[in-house]
Amino acid sequence: QTELIQVSNPAAAQATIARAGDILRRGGLVAFPTETVYGLGANGLDAAACARIYEAKGRPSDNPLILHVADRAMIDTIAADVPPCAEKLLAAFCPGPITLILRRKAIVPDRITGGLATVGIRMPENAIARAMIRAAGVPIAAPSANISGRPSPTTAASVLRDMQGRIPLILDGGPCRFGVESTIIDCTETPATILRPGAITREMLEELLGGVRLDPALVGAHTVPKAPGMKYRHYAPKAPLTLIEGAGAHMDAAFRRQARILQQQGETVGILASHETCAALADLIPENLRKDYGPRGDLPAIAARIYEALISLDDTPATALLAEGTTERGLGLAIMNRLHKASGFHSLHSND
Ligand code: TXA
Ligand code: MG
Repeated sequence: QTELIQVSNPAAAQATIARAGDILRRGGLVAFPTETVYGLGANGLDAAACARIYEAKGRPSDNPLILHVADRAMIDTIAADVPPCAEKLLAAFCPGPITLILRRKAIVPDRITGGLATVGIRMPENAIARAMIRAAGVPIAAPSANISGRPSPTTAASVLRDMQGRIPLILDGGPCRFGVESTIIDCTETPATILRPGAITREMLEELLGGVRLDPALVGAHTVPKAPGMKYRHYAPKAPLTLIEGAGAHMDAAFRRQARILQQQGETVGILASHETCAALADLIPENLRKDYGPRGDLPAIAARIYEALISLDDTPATALLAEGTTERGLGLAIMNRLHKASGFHSLHSND
């Protein structure tokens, strides 16, 4: 059975942290909070322990895991070298919500890198995560603590929902501060390349490094109106989701129009939208089918709530979902990337 223990402050929970460290050293799994999303941790230098992560998540074995470290010294045990751009990123943003792709040392098991010559390294800022990694004494491999393909959990309750009976221990540190996964930046390429947008934004990286590339796969996704099948669908709710893009002015009208069309087709429509849109649609969509993700344009609030709002739609009778888009600047790029994936790249523009 899975035990869930509240660990609001690591000093007050030393015994629990020690137990987590013990489970990890023996090859077991522990779910833990970070400032981005909850992670599902295992000893990152133990291939058999990491195999249990793949099993618990139902994750494809070629999808590599990132390693979490407590300090700089631990990075040097797993990275073959730390290029100048990575040094700058470490100084500016670590600990924090960013993962650096670096060349790996042989000590990193092939099992976790999918055979790549590189490894993703992240130094979380969350005090519980840091204390747990120290207690384990090894780098901790940790993907998000969800079943593969589902939205990432940002509360311990959501971890429990996916991981019940699959892992021995969940550390409950409350809701995650940022709510979207770390920015991933490949430091083995010149210029450094953003592979996944997150709370360390493209603009912040550009300012620090003087130029970064966005992985073409991220950019290209926007030109594809609809992905050819489920294999590109991630962060996915159970009902199909359509993303309505655009900055605000025509948003209420677009929601009203699309909701009516779907309702006339016999669908039960659920919406994931701003305060403003939810209020405007109150006559058309019952309250339990309206999930408010925060004030329109309040990007930190939206990022922090988006996954829980998405997950909560699975508890409603909705058969078709509409989600409100936002700007792609700053943190908006990460939010829109997750919404595009949740929709399987099925989107329309509020001006259409
Ligand atoms: O915020 C986060 O990064 C969270 C928390 C728990 O730290 N972790 C997380 O892990 O989001 P995961 O496994 O769900 O996402 C890691 C992503 C995957 O898409 C994986 O394919 C990619 O990082 N990745 C891992 N190693 C890589 C490598 N060497 N090169 C390129 N991509 C890599
Ligand atoms: Mg994940």
